[in-house]
Amino acid sequence: MIYSSQPAPIGVFDSGFGGLSILREIRKVLPQYDYIFLGDNARAPYGNRSFQLVYDFTLQAVKYLFSQGCHLVILACNTASAKALRSIQQRDLNSLDPNRRVLGVIRPTVEEIGNITKSRKVGVFGTPGTVQSLSYDIEIAKLHPDIKVYSHACPMWVPLVENRESDGPGADYFVEKDVKALMSQCGDIDSIILGCTHYPLLYDKIRKYTPEGVKIIEQGPIVAASLKDYLRRHPEMETRCTQGGTCQYCTTEDASRFSPLASIFVNHTVEAQHVTL
Ligand code: DGL
Repeated sequence: MIYSSQPAPIGVFDSGFGGLSILREIRKVLPQYDYIFLGDNARAPYGNRSFQLVYDFTLQAVKYLFSQGCHLVILACNTASAKALRSIQQRDLNSLDPNRRVLGVIRPTVEEIGNITKSRKVGVFGTPGTVQSLSYDIEIAKLHPDIKVYSHACPMWVPLVENRESDGPGADYFVEKDVKALMSQCGDIDSIILGCTHYPLLYDKIRKYTPEGVKIIEQGPIVAASLKDYLRRHPEMETRCTQGGTCQYCTTEDASRFSPLASIFVNHTVEAQHVTL
């Protein structure tokens, strides 16, 4: 397929609602651009799925956003960034369109963590897929070899968010259990990365059970600052991103199921459209 060369919105993709926590922060920092958000809610969560399936689903999403004209796509999903980004960047982009770009959320987070931790002991909460991929361990070892990483997979957190249970007592039970499990690995952890874009929705509960003084790192502001810097350094890409301040929301679920919860995430009324990948 030949994709349009006209300037177009920036694409933002997640398996479900979590990527909206990234989109919200990106739009605060870069309100002038147009965006297309795509949530693969019909097939979320990705966190327990195989490498092959996450790769296949993510590639379909990227192709969809390219077909909508996007020149730049942000994978606002750690699981997709961990399991699919490298293959897409190194293999697929060449044949799809070598001038388009797909960026993830792990690298910018890892770049920033070196400025945040003092004890050089960092915790990471992620989906089973992200934790098993060892992406954070590998990337942090490359950039900050003095930092020791302690990871813990939280398989129940995304389903709690996707099922609108993030404020309920079930969320308290799982968040307390998982925070204890991470902190018991090392008492000297001073910063915890929320390595899944759904987790900011559980922030208050995570804060409640995390020892005072331990920083909880949300990715939204980090990814937004990194994107701003990327566009400054790549004027050839910046001029291919339209500026109208709009955002279209697309979901693979029924739009009437997506829109009410999406509106809560982004603090304004969302009218999504259903799409098929
Ligand atoms: N929000 C995504 C992430 O950052 C994926 C969650 C999921 O689908 O399991 O990992």
